[in-house]
Amino acid sequence: MSEGVYRYHIVQHSLTLHRRGDARLDLARAALGQEFIYEAPLDIVICALYQRITLDYGSRGERYAHIEVGHAGQNIYLQTSVLGLATVAIGAFHDEQVREVLRLDKQYKPLYIMPVGKSA
Ligand SMILES: Cc1cc2nc3c(=O)[nH]c(=O)nc-3n(C[C@H](O)[C@H](O)[C@H](O)COP(=O)(O)O)c2cc1C
Repeated sequence: MSEGVYRYHIVQHSLTLHRRGDARLDLARAALGQEFIYEAPLDIVICALYQRITLDYGSRGERYAHIEVGHAGQNIYLQTSVLGLATVAIGAFHDEQVREVLRLDKQYKPLYIMPVGKSA
């Protein structure tokens, strides 16, 4: 894979290139300079689309998105551990800056950044 920001498509279970180039430094800056975001070879950014989940669940959908991001994050911890890698859940970042770096529409709410790499 070439350097870039990739979008995950849930239905096709596939990735497509969304933005070319290494965005890690800008992403780390958007997250108060947390350097492991820049150092890790991969950063997984999980976003909520509240408009979509509240279609099914009404206003409780927001709550469900927050619960589910915890599940997804836990699965990333488990999978990285199985692969002999490491991760850490990052919640401290500026939403708007993360959206700018990733070129995301305003409706996407970034909830977690999870750098994945070898443990120091
Ligand atoms: C919702 C949430 C957000 C967090 N945000 C950050 C963060 O921005 N930066 C950070 O270093 N740790 C953050 N943490 C804590 C780390 O994920 C981790 O739990 C902590 O660093 C302890 O890891 P350790 O037990 O491996 O040392 C967050 C934890 C949670 C649950």
